[in-house]
Amino acid sequence: MAQNIPELKAVLIDQMEDLLHGEHQLVKALPKMAKAAHAVQLRQAFTDHLEQTRLHVERLQQGLELLGAKAKAKTCKGMQGLVEESEATISEGKDLEPSSADLTLIIAAQKVEHYEISGYGSLRTLAERIGEMRVARLLADTESEEAQADELLTQVAQPLFARAA
Ligand SMILES: [Fe+2]
Ligand SMILES: [Fe+2]
Repeated sequence: MAQNIPELKAVLIDQMEDLLHGEHQLVKALPKMAKAAHAVQLRQAFTDHLEQTRLHVERLQQGLELLGAKAKAKTCKGMQGLVEESEATISEGKDLEPSSADLTLIIAAQKVEHYEISGYGSLRTLAERIGEMRVARLLADTESEEAQADELLTQVAQPLFARAA
């Protein structure tokens, strides 16, 4: 059966609007994560990723325009849940040793990055399949930055584990 391209394009738009809402939430959440971080490297990682996240918003807006859609955000409950968890992590961290508190922030942040990686990865593939190559390129650029952010968090966690041992 031939695939319905207009329908898949509508799915892509809908899902990109969902990601856009997620990124908007992260623009608000990341400064709080940075403020709560004790290790300078972790604070820097959050601050740097905030800048990238602003770029992720722009790329989604650009991609939605390329698809002829208005760049409106659609509530992303998945990200809302993850952001709520990160806020709980920040307040619970106040009772922990600084290195333990930082590790809990990294755990929360890596869940966010993985959620984003899966979203961008699936949508990049979808965009490629329906021949929206410029949109696929934008999604791939963000996907690789999310993967780098995740990798950086893994590295930042290493000395914190060493301290805990
Ligand atoms: Fe992002
Ligand atoms: Fe991210």
